[in-house]
Amino acid sequence: MRVLGIETSCDETAAAIVEGGRRVRADVVATQIAVHSPYGGVVPELASRHHVLNLVPVVRQALGDAGLELGAVEGIAVTRGPGLAGALLCGVQLAKAIAFARGLPLVGVNHLEGHLMAVFLDDGEGSEEPPFPHLALLVSGGHTALVAAEAVGRYRLLGATRDDAAGECFDKVAKMLGLGYPGGVTIERLAGPGDPGAVRFPRALPRRDDLDFSFSGLKTAVATHLARVGRPDGQELADLCASFQQAVVDVLVRKTRVARRQTGLRHLVVAGGVAANARLRDALRAMADEEEIRLYVPPPRRCTDNAAMIAAAGTPRLGRGERAGLDLNAVPGLRLDG
Ligand code: KG4
Ligand code: ZN
Repeated sequence: MRVLGIETSCDETAAAIVEGGRRVRADVVATQIAVHSPYGGVVPELASRHHVLNLVPVVRQALGDAGLELGAVEGIAVTRGPGLAGALLCGVQLAKAIAFARGLPLVGVNHLEGHLMAVFLDDGEGSEEPPFPHLALLVSGGHTALVAAEAVGRYRLLGATRDDAAGECFDKVAKMLGLGYPGGVTIERLAGPGDPGAVRFPRALPRRDDLDFSFSGLKTAVATHLARVGRPDGQELADLCASFQQAVVDVLVRKTRVARRQTGLRHLVVAGGVAANARLRDALRAMADEEEIRLYVPPPRRCTDNAAMIAAAGTPRLGRGERAGLDLNAVPGLRLDG
């Protein structure tokens, strides 16, 4: 089945064409970073307005990249939540309009399930599919969670952040340092020549066997440090970024190890924007080797928001005969296990 995926949950306007839930024929992402960067975060109303402007050109470009006419599309998968209400509605409305006009089957997709399914996309590098059940670490700008993925569409939440998400923490620290939005990529780049042991930041691990995360204490510790030493530059900025990044990575890896031991699961999927971070990928790879489990991480461009993952998550649903009607609506607070 050839599926058009549409994603507008936050600040990326994305469309993709995926065949059989695996083969990516086109994957277009129009980012709004330049729009939101001056504000140090996403401005919801501006996001919606830019989705309205970008959506049709992005879908056209996806079709063009795939060398296909709209008539060749056999189904549509669109993100219905979680995300910004106005932003989600843009994608949902266009998906419904195309489905209605062309008589195509339509499904609404959970954005978080999309992230978890990104690893099933084939990038022509002989990527291997993880078997079910498996453990998943989902680390994005809005969510940080450990999940037992029991089957496609069946997820059990093992633990989640009690306050800020890991990506949000990267973004807030970047904002404190005046590094613009989004912060993850910039902090990773600046951390390159830094010493991760230079500044000792706290690792919040509520209870050892507890699988919840907390990142607000780390954010406060960075703010306190900056109030004391002032805004660093040069090597000190590199050391600060490296030390902060290491604190996030340590907590994510330690909790994932606890989850893996508690569940006994031997296959680990890592997904979401923060999974693009090389330091995190390396640390999880080392942990997986020690635990003798298999690690599956999508290439960095499929960790951050895209529509190929939405098409991948929608395809099995369409295949099972699941259909959304024209009453499909955005659900900003949609849960993964709801
Ligand atoms: O999954 P995503 O694209 O959007 C959401 O669903 O939230 O994740 C975006 C988040 C942002 O907070 C961004 O700073 C973070 O992922 N991120 C990174 C990296 N690339 C993106 N964090 C750390 N290192 C990176 N390389
Ligand atoms: Zn996302």
